[in-house]
Amino acid sequence: MSFAAAFELRAGGGATRHRIGGDALAAAAAELATEVAGRTVFLVTEATVWGLHGERLAALPAACSRLHRLVVPAGEAAKQVEVADSLWRAMSAAGGKRDSRVIAFGGGSVGDLAGFVAGTFLRGVDWLLLPTTLLAQVDASIGGKTAVDLPEAKNAVGLFHHPRLVVADTGVLATLPPEQVRSGLVEAVKVAALLDPELLARIERDRAALLAGDAAALAPVVATAARLKAGLVERDPDERGERGLLNFGHTLGHALEAEVGYGRLLHGDAVAHGIRFALRLSVLEGGDPAFARRLAALLDGLGVPPLPRLAAAPLLARLERDKKAREGGLTWVLAASAGEGRLACGLAPERVAGELAAFLNEPAGESL
Ligand SMILES: NC(=O)c1ccc[n+]([C@@H]2O[C@H](COP(=O)([O-])OP(=O)(O)OC[C@H]3O[C@@H](n4cnc5c(N)ncnc54)[C@H](O)[C@@H]3O)[C@@H](O)[C@H]2O)c1
Repeated sequence: MSFAAAFELRAGGGATRHRIGGDALAAAAAELATEVAGRTVFLVTEATVWGLHGERLAALPAACSRLHRLVVPAGEAAKQVEVADSLWRAMSAAGGKRDSRVIAFGGGSVGDLAGFVAGTFLRGVDWLLLPTTLLAQVDASIGGKTAVDLPEAKNAVGLFHHPRLVVADTGVLATLPPEQVRSGLVEAVKVAALLDPELLARIERDRAALLAGDAAALAPVVATAARLKAGLVERDPDERGERGLLNFGHTLGHALEAEVGYGRLLHGDAVAHGIRFALRLSVLEGGDPAFARRLAALLDGLGVPPLPRLAAAPLLARLERDKKAREGGLTWVLAASAGEGRLACGLAPERVAGELAAFLNEPAGESL
């Protein structure tokens, strides 16, 4: 057994080993066993993932000294302070020590929660991350960001806490609901568009197999997209420069997600609409219209549903708040052509407002 990709991400004074492939959990079994040998392990997961794929971790109880399975709610409901509190309490009651291990087995929500709990329990215990959604495999499992939400804002409380090992097994993606596959693919399209024309062409070519959750088709896409993100994180750990490229489609995407309501608009779908809008700005700034049309066609081909009817004013207010939240003002990520992403500050607000109003008024599929 081998991996589609095996690499190290050096950040935060340590290194995270990434293992990616169609049967990666089996291929990494010995490495996982070494990580937990002689230790108390807290396996944080949720019922759906455990029910579907728990047997892939069947060797774990025998490999460690004690295993405590902690089941949390699925989805964003896991990222609550109360859920973190219940995990801290359970770990404390079970005699968790600084050299215990936390393992996250689930999507980005479980990973963000478990990483946050691991980073704060006893001032930080080491953790391992086994992402089970496409979004988590190409994006959330890379870079060490962890967080829980507050009623006031998503990801409001968190810390950087890099896992020791990330095992992304694309075999688990076959059971993912189609809309979750689509949402994750948008993040792969994002990095491909900005950084890797070959990956973009592969996604276009293999679109049907990727959307069907085919592990063999997904493995090289996850491997390449994860490497691209890892490279950006390594070169720019504090997000002062090029790591900002990962926000392609996210400037408007975050505002759309908050305005429509979390859980009602999937993150990837919001980002897809954000990318369409960023492409519109890119063309205005001299980008290649043919590339913008090509990328929009790919997003259409993924089946991203149209936006509900939205007014520009509340979205502009959210963008304005976002701008105030950042010292350097609002930054747009633009894509001039395949593999040519760049950060743009200081776009005239009236121009952005006019474009947004026009964008929101156009029927789906004609917004370029
Ligand atoms: N830390 C980061 O850098 C980062 C980056 C991007 C997103 N995120 C966070 O990730 C979260 C979203 O994560 P997500 O999109 O992975 O979704 P998720 O973890 O919320 O899971 C979505 C749904 O998929 C189900 N599921 C998970 N794996 C499955 C599988 N293999 N088969 C069938 N069903 C499965 C879950 O039960 C859940 O219902 C958000 O909270 C977001 O803020 C974090």
